[in-house]
Amino acid sequence: MPITTAVFDAYGTLFDVSAAARTAAAEPNRDALAACWQKLANDWRLKQLQYTWLRAVADAHGDFWDVTQEGLDWALENNGLDGDAELRDRLLHLYWELAAYGEVPAMLLSLKDAGLNTAILSNGSPKMLDGAVQSAGIGDLLDDVLSVEDVQVFKPHKSVYDLVVKRFDCAPEQVLFVSSNGWDAAAASGYGFYTTWVNRAGEPMDRLPWKPQQVLSDLTTIPDIAAQN
Ligand code: LAC
Repeated sequence: MPITTAVFDAYGTLFDVSAAARTAAAEPNRDALAACWQKLANDWRLKQLQYTWLRAVADAHGDFWDVTQEGLDWALENNGLDGDAELRDRLLHLYWELAAYGEVPAMLLSLKDAGLNTAILSNGSPKMLDGAVQSAGIGDLLDDVLSVEDVQVFKPHKSVYDLVVKRFDCAPEQVLFVSSNGWDAAAASGYGFYTTWVNRAGEPMDRLPWKPQQVLSDLTTIPDIAAQN
């Protein structure tokens, strides 16, 4: 069955999550952050994701914005920056309006021109996702923005991927699912989607029971992949 629907993870896939710490580090009077922003961004992302997995396993769902703040608080403390309340506020503000990666608008436009459905499927709360979609200016290029809030459990729970087949009334193999998270791409592959892992950082493949069908370094060729499958 041909692919009819292209679905994207949000944070790290369409939106550049490290941009918050990178942008703040380039601002005046941020010497302490400038010395460690990459580690802080990495700690923040890793803790945020760990907390989602733990909450999913423990049946203790929470809003992704709260989890994002909990991850940031851990990362600030781990990097000796937890006394800087202004920096915390600034990083959260920047996270709310993350930029999309440069290739995103043209890539989505190309998918729309080819007649595909396009959507986001994310752990993000609807309000967070709306903030990011609006600031990136890609709302017109998406048919829907699906949030785990509808099922009250984080990825990679199966009920999250179910949201896509229900919304677009399609079979899993008609969905091209794209994520920069190796574990998300792997789990979506196990679900039955045709998956692409966008491995911008050149990380090793996750050792999980499933593998993505494709590994790319950015999103530029996604419309070709959708057309060929
Ligand atoms: C998301 C995170 C996992 O957007 O990147 O769902």
